[in-house]
Amino acid sequence: MQQNQLSEAMEERLGRQVAEEYWTEQFYISMSNEAEHQNMHGMSKWLRQEAEDEHMHGRKLADYILARGNHVKLPHLRPIPSQWESLEKMFVELAENERRVTEAYNTHIDACVAERDHATCAFLRFYVLNQVEELQVARDILFRFSLIRNAPYMIMTVDRYFYELAARKK
Ligand SMILES: [Fe+2]
Repeated sequence: MQQNQLSEAMEERLGRQVAEEYWTEQFYISMSNEAEHQNMHGMSKWLRQEAEDEHMHGRKLADYILARGNHVKLPHLRPIPSQWESLEKMFVELAENERRVTEAYNTHIDACVAERDHATCAFLRFYVLNQVEELQVARDILFRFSLIRNAPYMIMTVDRYFYELAARKK
């Protein structure tokens, strides 16, 4: 191993996470397409923004792996969903994915603590904290869907909320 290189196990672990970030990027693009198809322009706009964030997460992680002198090995992941029973179900899946990503980062932190790879722990801090925000927003979205379950025509108020979310990011 060259000086300062990631361990083989860490290289594989982080490479897989880069693939997961790109998977999530495509997942968000797919959800945005469905939202647009259903004339939910606020949702579509926010989901596109999120997709860009996910792309940045993958890029930043890949650059870190490269900075350590390792290779970025991207495994082939699962197919991207493109159809949902309802918009609410689509956002339930979004929340599930964010929970899965959160758990993955917690496991990465466990691994870098065990390896005493402190640089990787410090680098991953951004991702761990970002997941707090992702889960909070997902919870907020699902709460809004739960409020309109008996009044589906109120979906436009939920769509308006996504413009707010999108504006918050700028
Ligand atoms: Fe991400």
